[in-house]
Amino acid sequence: MTDWTDCLNFGISIAKQASEVVLLAFQQQKDVKLKSSPADLVTETDQQVEKILISAIRNKYPDHRFIGEESVAAGERLELTDSPTWIIDPIDGTVNFVHRFPFVAISIAFTVNKQTEFGVVYSCVEDKMFYAQRGKGAFVNGEPLYASGQEDVSRCVVVTEIGAERDDLSLSTMTSNIFRLLQLPVHGVRAMGTAAVDMCQVATGGADAYYHIGMHCWDIAASAIIVQEAGGVVMDTDGSDFDMMSRRVIAASSSAVANSIAHAIQAFPCRRDDED
Ligand code: IPD
Repeated sequence: MTDWTDCLNFGISIAKQASEVVLLAFQQQKDVKLKSSPADLVTETDQQVEKILISAIRNKYPDHRFIGEESVAAGERLELTDSPTWIIDPIDGTVNFVHRFPFVAISIAFTVNKQTEFGVVYSCVEDKMFYAQRGKGAFVNGEPLYASGQEDVSRCVVVTEIGAERDDLSLSTMTSNIFRLLQLPVHGVRAMGTAAVDMCQVATGGADAYYHIGMHCWDIAASAIIVQEAGGVVMDTDGSDFDMMSRRVIAASSSAVANSIAHAIQAFPCRRDDED
């Protein structure tokens, strides 16, 4: 079995280096462009950071492949193969970045044979480096992470996101899902504006669950393994196995909580990430 620790350490070091570009630009005026909706934003910094990360990795590992948010937005085909693949979101929380809301992350996952070997989520403004390697636990700034283990959904803080969709069906499903959860009831519902950092809150035990419909594989691939390695559970919102391409996810402290949320919420249709 190959040990991917060197790749993980490289991922951590380039995330840290690239964060200098993010933090410098964070305070400045940005040139903002729209992508799929009025709430799906991109800046020059997203594109610049993705290029920095990909060229650094390509120099060191010329045979490895990439799935990058901005490369896909620019027309590159999104295909997860068995080859070693880096799945990159250069700035998760671009809306936060544009508004200087202080939660933005660089998210890097690494897969081999379509299985995630490690994930790195660097929450740049907070200076929190979350990472996990398959079978080796999850950490933040070197300290081990543990999910809360909570089994009773009515005692949970649940994180979710409004997302970038603005059509009527998506919005009404999203808001009625929050209504249904509050009716269960849960202790609270939160949104930090970055799927990657949201999901890492489940790994810290600060939140007990997270669900989201409509995000993309680069938003959650790294944080999914961080949650799993912290002892949490990751599944599809329909209760089936986690599929990073399905654009639906529940991350939770326990199977009981994940199943309660799966029963409570409804999904709206969205194209799979790997659909042509
Ligand atoms: C977005 C963030 C946001 C989520 C959106 C994502 P981006 O990623 O994770 O929290 O609600 O669905 O697209 O565009 O900032 O990388």
